[in-house]
Amino acid sequence: MTSEPANLFDPAHFAGVRKPLLEAETLPVWAYTSEAFYKREVERIFMKVWNFLGRGEQVAAPGDFFTATFAGVPLIVLRGEDGKVRAFANTCRHRGSELLEGKGNCKAIICPYHSWTYGLDGRLVGAPEMGQTAGFRNEDHGLLPIRLETWAGFLFVCFDPQAAPLSQYLGGLVEKVAPYGLGDMVLARRREYTMECNWKLFVENAKESYHIATVHKSTINKYASARSSGYWVEEAKGEYCVTFAKHEGSMALLQGDSGFPLIESLEGLREAGGTCAPLIYPSTYLACTIDCAWYLELHPMGPNRTKLIHGSLFPRERLAREDFAEVAAHYYKRWDITTDEDIVASDRQQRGLTSPLAMPGRFSHREPLVHTIDNWILDRVLGD
Ligand code: FES
Ligand SMILES: [Fe+2]
Repeated sequence: MTSEPANLFDPAHFAGVRKPLLEAETLPVWAYTSEAFYKREVERIFMKVWNFLGRGEQVAAPGDFFTATFAGVPLIVLRGEDGKVRAFANTCRHRGSELLEGKGNCKAIICPYHSWTYGLDGRLVGAPEMGQTAGFRNEDHGLLPIRLETWAGFLFVCFDPQAAPLSQYLGGLVEKVAPYGLGDMVLARRREYTMECNWKLFVENAKESYHIATVHKSTINKYASARSSGYWVEEAKGEYCVTFAKHEGSMALLQGDSGFPLIESLEGLREAGGTCAPLIYPSTYLACTIDCAWYLELHPMGPNRTKLIHGSLFPRERLAREDFAEVAAHYYKRWDITTDEDIVASDRQQRGLTSPLAMPGRFSHREPLVHTIDNWILDRVLGD
């Protein structure tokens, strides 16, 4: 029986994962179930990297905000009067109440406990009855800012003040997906799911095509892209890995369904005949196909619980079409079916791994990125 050892982070436990793909073992089973392992991932990964947190369109106007709890940290993302998007800890500087809930628009952030009031830039602008408090100054008690940077309309937050800028984190990815014009795309639909699985299981699933013939046998398996010959891993210069799948038509439609035309800027490029799908480490999947793009945003919630957000992106002009809703429905149908199929597979895998009888397995040549991703995670979890 495999149970969680006391010396969890001893590299000896991971020697099998560190071997080359076809000699390697999968991660120890407890890497998907252990509270201590999860806590270490939060400290060494999620508190250090640039974490994807949605699109600028979610806060289109000044005062628009949304809240999220990312890896245990409640936060607010908000667009200021100056048009700038900022992130703050969603925790009052008086006695710590959560400030905002859900999403909406506000003129100021007023604490629901004792009415301390913060401006949209996070400054404390009102604190009733604090005049007698020795040395109290509003300017010392603004909301705690969290680093937020954007790329092509995507919002990323980083909890580490020492981390290099987002552009450096993304590296060559920016140029690689430039032909798609992601910055000119619009988030047409956003759908949330709660999964009963470790975040790594869903990430691993997103970056291997081995399961397509089984899990998606009646949906996307009908594409040539499911064949290993038309799907390969490309070079990556940044904190991501990326595949290109060659196929006819749009990866975002089921066979026989009609869709939108080719993204104009792809005309004549290799990208007009397939799908480029990066995984931005540790957990953001992006798929850019010939007529649209979509993303999978993960919020880790514990060793066996993960929030998934599916975002649908179309070129801005498509949304102005009279038939937009009708045509977009074909895409939503495909995404909803396959997302459900992947969630069922990942939740089922978590249940299997929760068994005291579960043990590490071996990789197929069809799972190179599962091995790459797991080793990227170990480099951080075991490193300094
Ligand atoms: S906790 Fe926010 S005003 Fe008191
Ligand atoms: Fe899948």
